[in-house]
Amino acid sequence: MIKKCLFPVAGYGTRFLPATKSMPKEMLPVVNKPLVQYGVEEAIEAGMTTCAMVTGRGKRAIADHFDISYELEHQISGSGKEAYLASIRNVLEKGVFTMVRQREMKGLGHAILTGKSLIGNEPFGVLLSDDLCINDGPGVLAQMAELYKQFRCSIVAIQEVPADETHKYGVISGESLKEGIYRVDEMVEKPAPEDAPSNLAIIGRYILTPDIFDIIADTEPGANGEIQLTDALQTQARQGCVMAYKFKGRRFDCGSVPGFVEATNYVYEHHYTDI
Ligand code: G1P
Repeated sequence: MIKKCLFPVAGYGTRFLPATKSMPKEMLPVVNKPLVQYGVEEAIEAGMTTCAMVTGRGKRAIADHFDISYELEHQISGSGKEAYLASIRNVLEKGVFTMVRQREMKGLGHAILTGKSLIGNEPFGVLLSDDLCINDGPGVLAQMAELYKQFRCSIVAIQEVPADETHKYGVISGESLKEGIYRVDEMVEKPAPEDAPSNLAIIGRYILTPDIFDIIADTEPGANGEIQLTDALQTQARQGCVMAYKFKGRRFDCGSVPGFVEATNYVYEHHYTDI
């Protein structure tokens, strides 16, 4: 039912400098696959086969990755090396990739609003590829798409975090409807521990209803002087409903060096087989 997923991929990746000086952070490989491809595979698995990328300057490698590499493919055609292309070929067969460039970095809310022309008037997923989620059953977006059928309103993925880490996340509080599902009544972007409404932090997976675009357009800059998706969602929560969902699976913060290394070790140990 939800056919499109938005990928905000314009950010600088300063925490990985100098690696990200000329290479998009989304192209950093966890073992042998770029971070953004894990995200795209998760979206496609959830039925969101149109992957709408909000890119920026210096991000052309992402567009090239989701295209045919004619010379390379011609060179290795018929050899055993072709097997290494299987996963990306599978993605290219199933997915459609659309792009728009975000000219100024004004926050996640602004990135989402920039993607409006790629989405139109329908509910859509959002995936932040820094948050790598790995699990055995259906992926996190697929779990959320299933939940959307029931609630028909925006949904954010959440996870409990240590109290002294709330300043890194959007944090919610709400009424628990059943195990792992909350109706949100408060959301705060990057609160200090003493201001946090709980320790339930938003992780980079969302289902958004399209009224969010007009709400973002009316949202003033918030934390860090940026237009925050969390603030727009707080308005949506007040006007209608926003759900929060404690997803099944393991999440790695690949926007930080320790999280990235942890993900690399985990994927190498549990999911990697050489061809
Ligand atoms: C963004 C969101 C934040 C969320 C986080 C998840 O923050 O603004 O609400 O908790 O992603 O990774 P960022 O990590 O881009 O600063």
